[in-house]
Amino acid sequence: MKTELTTDVEQAANYIRSGGIVAFPTETVYGLGANVFDENAVGRIFEAKQRPADNPLIAHISSLEQVGQLSDEITDSATKFIDAFFPGPLTIVLRKRDAVPMIATAGLDTIGIRMPRFKLANEFLKACGAPVVAPSANLSGRPSPTTWQAVAEDLDGRIDCILQGEITEIGIESSVVDCTGDVPILLRTGSVSLEELRAVVPETTYEQGSDLIIRSPGLRHKHYSPRASVVLVDSVPRDSENAAFIGIGSNEPNISFSKICVDQHDYAHSLFEFFRECDRRGISTIYCQTVSETGIGAALMDRLRRAAAG
Ligand code: TXA
Ligand code: MG
Repeated sequence: MKTELTTDVEQAANYIRSGGIVAFPTETVYGLGANVFDENAVGRIFEAKQRPADNPLIAHISSLEQVGQLSDEITDSATKFIDAFFPGPLTIVLRKRDAVPMIATAGLDTIGIRMPRFKLANEFLKACGAPVVAPSANLSGRPSPTTWQAVAEDLDGRIDCILQGEITEIGIESSVVDCTGDVPILLRTGSVSLEELRAVVPETTYEQGSDLIIRSPGLRHKHYSPRASVVLVDSVPRDSENAAFIGIGSNEPNISFSKICVDQHDYAHSLFEFFRECDRRGISTIYCQTVSETGIGAALMDRLRRAAAG
């Protein structure tokens, strides 16, 4: 299959309207989209990414009216989060409507819903004319793509089209919060922090461990792994052979390849592309500096731990 590269929103949306799968930029990472109601197209996403069938997809919307096409049980907490954070890097999980095919939600009776704030994403989703399910546009297990070139690296020849945009603004995925029960539960940390969620719904909890795996099956799988091994460190290590370093600070480390970030946001923005660049250079060990787990730091540490475990 030839993968079309385009900057034309209409051309990209045309593929979705005719049952195709298209990668597109959002403010978090690039997603790989299909019409949520087209089971065949949704199936092609799992195939192209080699994604385990038990890992549910997030439906992306371009207007608040589309929430109602996906769920008819919109809880109070969901309404509050929608008011506060849509459009933006937050996914809310609600009971799904029967019309939403089981393949999209990996057999769950709930659906993740997110309204990206990135302008090109919004234009593309509008042109698609229906909610678009989209996981990150990487091969399963690899770091999420923050550039269209990273998408092409993993998926060229496996998908219909890539809508080309800039490097994504945030660089790590949305926060996912389950709003189906009385108390909202943060399932995946992201750029909307637990503190920010609690400012809107104070009871919001954060679930970790085995209950989380039951609720959010995708999290069990290997994630964000470069081919190099990832080692978490407190400070810049002494030079070691064929190694790289990413962290926050001022002095350049004595190491073959490094990225010194100005703050946690810059670190989050740079991390996945840094992993990929290390792989392109054949680096064997990537030292990643740990950060404090407040604000986006919690999501950053989550991704770093998963990469180190991978
Ligand atoms: O920022 C993002 O969220 C990006 C962009 C493209 O929007 N998407 C993304 O999708 O990261 P993905 O498939 O890589 O991660 C989706 C994760 C799943 O692995 C699962 O943990 C959680 O979101 N999820 C999705 N639907 C869910 C549901 N119904 N119940 C619980 N967790 C769900
Ligand atoms: Mg992903």
